[in-house]
Amino acid sequence: MFGETLDYWLLRSLAHRRNLATEAQLDARAAEASAASFEAAMPKLDKLLRRFAGHLPVDARASYLDMGCGTGELTIALAGMGVGRITGVDFLPRSIETARAHAARMRAGNARFVCADLHGWVPPQKYDVLLSFDAFEHIDEPRACLRKMKQLLAPGGIAVVCFGPLFHSPFGDHMWGFFRLQLPWRGVLFSESAMLRVRRECFRPTDPARRLNEIAGGLNRMRYSEFIEHVHASGWQFDYLAVNTFLPEGSVARRLSDLLARVPLLRDFVPHNVYAVLRPR
Ligand SMILES: C[S@@+](CC[C@H](N)C(=O)[O-])C[C@H]1O[C@@H](n2cnc3c(N)ncnc32)[C@H](O)[C@@H]1O
Repeated sequence: MFGETLDYWLLRSLAHRRNLATEAQLDARAAEASAASFEAAMPKLDKLLRRFAGHLPVDARASYLDMGCGTGELTIALAGMGVGRITGVDFLPRSIETARAHAARMRAGNARFVCADLHGWVPPQKYDVLLSFDAFEHIDEPRACLRKMKQLLAPGGIAVVCFGPLFHSPFGDHMWGFFRLQLPWRGVLFSESAMLRVRRECFRPTDPARRLNEIAGGLNRMRYSEFIEHVHASGWQFDYLAVNTFLPEGSVARRLSDLLARVPLLRDFVPHNVYAVLRPR
């Protein structure tokens, strides 16, 4: 906004160090992931089902793949809700270890976990329902990922995708963990290197990331309009598409948000989240 140095000093003055943690500390915390985070999974899944408005199937005969499952809370919650076999995949070893330990504790025999990078992973089977929850804003090369997803899909299958906050939306920079004051569109307005310098000093001292896409877990800065283009260019079509689903359906705010999300100059800066069901074209 004001150049790298001024941006840094401005951002630094708004930051705190209460959540400072090294990668080793994060690994240790993930290993003892509290039962509470798993207990929160059921309300989170209920919220997802509500926001998908009947478009997320829970089918005992279908096989599911949870792509970028993290520590597997939603994977295990879905397993408990009665989906058929479900596989969670993530490339962070600490997340998969936590997910496996919890699945064993919960005796979720129909949930299994694989530690792999989705871009290169070749599974032994295809899946009826591909799930991607809160991962698409992180995944490197989302178009390549959408292409890869088509190879993972069984005939007649669908992909159920939700993600956010989108980078260009008001709170899309995923940096709220170390700022005392949340400035809207901070990630768009301030220099990337200033932001990451403050992140290293106040939040993740052992993560050497100098670019957003180098952060552990990544941040690809995909715009809403780019997501739509990627979907079409990779041979999918939308069965369902909604944005800002936290706004009540039919409310004035939701209608206004839908309207703004269609205005070419504004559409990338309004959608905070995206809920979509995709089918091969
Ligand atoms: C914000 S987390 C979401 C976790 C989970 N789906 C949820 O909703 O709680 C995004 C996850 O995507 C994973 N991820 C990103 N790119 C990936 C890739 N190429 N292969 C596997 N996992 C990936 C990250 O490690 C991270 O755990």
